[in-house]
Amino acid sequence: PKAPGTAPRAQIGVIGGSGFYSFLDNVTEIAVDTPYGAPSDSLFLGEVAGRQVAFLPRHGRKHHLPPHRINYRANLWALRSVGVRQVLGPCAVGGLRPEYGPGTLLVPDQVVDRTKARAQTYFDGEPLLAGGPRPNVVHVTFADPYCPAGRLAALKAARGRDWEPVDGGTLVVIEGPRFSTRAESRWHAAQGWSVVGMTGHPEAVLARELELCYTSLTLVTDLDAGTEAGEGVSHQEVMQVFSANVGRLREVLFDAVAALPATAERVCLCVRAHDGWNLGIELP
Ligand code: ADE
Repeated sequence: PKAPGTAPRAQIGVIGGSGFYSFLDNVTEIAVDTPYGAPSDSLFLGEVAGRQVAFLPRHGRKHHLPPHRINYRANLWALRSVGVRQVLGPCAVGGLRPEYGPGTLLVPDQVVDRTKARAQTYFDGEPLLAGGPRPNVVHVTFADPYCPAGRLAALKAARGRDWEPVDGGTLVVIEGPRFSTRAESRWHAAQGWSVVGMTGHPEAVLARELELCYTSLTLVTDLDAGTEAGEGVSHQEVMQVFSANVGRLREVLFDAVAALPATAERVCLCVRAHDGWNLGIELP
């Protein structure tokens, strides 16, 4: 093991989605363990625009983890433990409006959780780590689930690459791994929700619990079953459209990294999610 202080560090994390298994050139691969178990894969550390970035393939580099098997707690914990404080989370989604067709980039400002069985908090009552001094109960504020500064950086980066993004909208997250029925999809659309995915929750809330800035960048790969006549969404279609767009998504992410506020100069509420609270666990 490396001596304290010499371990590779990063400030910005990127969690790659379906079809997104490598991001940086000249990487240092490090395996990180956490009190919650192993993350989806090693962290791949490298540099973008003078910022240290840690990339983590959300589904594992071989895409062996379906959305409901991803250890979201370990993923965010691992990133924070190497120094990450700002996270960009691209993901594939289905469009819930005809105008949000494949290739649309939507930077949501709201999320709806329709998952069913996922560990979604670090504050689970009893102190997890032996000898924790306090009951481990915390209710974070989550009215605005995404970092406002991160959203601006993502929008600016997309516009700079002539990819006009949709600014805001609601991401509904389903448990999966199946896609929605037509009735479910029509219901999601009727609620006014914009896009549907399988991984946006609990990623965003766990980031908030760790006082990380988190920004979701959703790439529409298909029109969801209630939005389009036809046979319904297929996994193949999702992967094809995502790979067709992964090149420009990578460029947008590079520019978004460069456009993020300096880690030490963040003024958003994400940084102070636990202001005034004594936590029952120590954040890494
Ligand atoms: N990911 C990509 N397309 C999706 C869809 N239609 N529903 C849920 N998750 C998705």
